[in-house]
Amino acid sequence: MKTETRLVTAALPYINNVPHLGHIVGSHLPADIFARFCRTKGYDTLFIGGTDEHGSTSEIAASEVGADFETFGVKLHEEHKKIYDWFNISYDVFSRTPSKTHISTTQDFFKKINTNGFITSGKMKVFYSPKEDRYLPDRYIRGTCPRCGYEDATGDQCENCTAVLDPTQLINPRSSISGEKIEIREREHLFLRLDKLSPQLESWIKSQTTWRPQVTSLALSWIKEGLKERCITRDLKHGVPVPLPGFEDKVFYVWFDAPIGYLSFTKEAAPKRWQKFWQDDSSKIYHFLGKDNIPFHTIFWPGMLLAHGNINLPHQVIGLQYLNYEGGKFSKSQKRGVFCEKLPETGLDSDVMRAYLTFLIPETADSEFRWDDFQRRVNTEIIGNLGNFVNRTLHLVKQKNNQIVSKPKETELEQIDREILVSVETKVKKATELLEQAKLREAFSEILSLSADGNKYLSDTKPWSSEDSVRTNTVLYHGAAICRSLAILISPYLPTTSKRIWNQLALSGKADAAGNWDSAAELDLQENHRIGEPEVLFGRLTSEEVKRIKNTTSQTTEIKELFNK
Ligand code: 2FM
Ligand code: ZN
Repeated sequence: MKTETRLVTAALPYINNVPHLGHIVGSHLPADIFARFCRTKGYDTLFIGGTDEHGSTSEIAASEVGADFETFGVKLHEEHKKIYDWFNISYDVFSRTPSKTHISTTQDFFKKINTNGFITSGKMKVFYSPKEDRYLPDRYIRGTCPRCGYEDATGDQCENCTAVLDPTQLINPRSSISGEKIEIREREHLFLRLDKLSPQLESWIKSQTTWRPQVTSLALSWIKEGLKERCITRDLKHGVPVPLPGFEDKVFYVWFDAPIGYLSFTKEAAPKRWQKFWQDDSSKIYHFLGKDNIPFHTIFWPGMLLAHGNINLPHQVIGLQYLNYEGGKFSKSQKRGVFCEKLPETGLDSDVMRAYLTFLIPETADSEFRWDDFQRRVNTEIIGNLGNFVNRTLHLVKQKNNQIVSKPKETELEQIDREILVSVETKVKKATELLEQAKLREAFSEILSLSADGNKYLSDTKPWSSEDSVRTNTVLYHGAAICRSLAILISPYLPTTSKRIWNQLALSGKADAAGNWDSAAELDLQENHRIGEPEVLFGRLTSEEVKRIKNTTSQTTEIKELFNK
């Protein structure tokens, strides 16, 4: 049987900021859960990410802290990586867009689409700030959105109505750095013929059967508005140099080179078999990203891929909504939020934060982080349900059965045992179907409901008060086997806890071993299996502790401070 190949990506973060929880829950964590599921399910999986370092945002951020561009990028990449490591985000590669492979891949990509006739040159009005003596690209121009009237739209996009903009469309343009008026100058630039690609894009979008309705309808609304040629070059010092005579003093627009990062980082991670992910018909590409990135991943990037030819288009574009914080937005300046660089200092188990964030993955609508909800849901659903079931079961196996469980005979099974067997099978099937559709939140509640079934099974059968050793063994065997299934099922969500359960069960191999997923549906331990030492998985979160974590994580590091050390 041929193994399906899957490439999973999380939107490449800019480096003008250190990530907060909204960034984690909006792409890195869901992509990680999905990638971990795919590996354990047995797909040949590669999970890639990296920092998106080019563009005016980084140039200006670097000059603000007085660092040169390369030093700035290296430092910010390191800070980002530390945070994703704390969260156990299992990137197979976490690279940087200034990498050599990325530069050459971007240049080759451009040459191919140019040869294919999808590039044209033309005059473009660009904004020049006399005050700063620099051309100001899209993101550093602010003005009023021509579509909805929002006064603080940036030059490339209106964050209020998500319209993709050209800076010349803004009303009353100004520099977002100095706030001063800016001049318009005419320069020769290169454009991608999105207009020419529109019919192909439209039929590709319409042929998607698995996209979420909001993603498809957004994509089709841009097609309907009419796609125009889109400028792909900029007058900036740093970026990927344009390999075309007459344009050597320019670099590519950051949104042209960034998605090519998915391709170049695949080459870095799998130099000998990157084609398998990008050119094999059976390969599926899953992009996880925030909703503001949807146009780029459903129109612009697929347009580039179509113009290039011979490369797979995305299979799924999972556009996530936003995470709010305690009734408002995350705000660094107002110290409103959970700032990830402080999380390691709290001593919090990262699985606890992963669990709560999973409840909040904004799959269908914006969601909200609340500390009281954090405490309540972690204490009831993670500790009270999951932690309690595992601990209770393993303690009983130790106390009542000398740490050993043996497989009951078919004839020893009662109705309640047969019901729990059916429940395991049904819930694993349901969770798997949901995970296949990247419905990660729903799948997690299905998994937790299996743990609740396990708790109910113990309460109904009361092995602690049973005098019948055969019956006690039957129940505890099922209990321990459900713990094994749960260790596998939670492995994409709570990887450390999954390992701890597996070790306490003293099982060989790994819970998340490639191809182990389907075995979660069977309640199957080896004959006379001896478990290890039961240990409490999580301590209850007290109000004082939550307060302490809140105080620590509401402090945020200014980027400048990273360069003073
Ligand atoms: O919005 C952002 O943070 C962008 N840096 C995302 C880029 S995704 C990809 F295409 F590289
Ligand atoms: Zn708008």
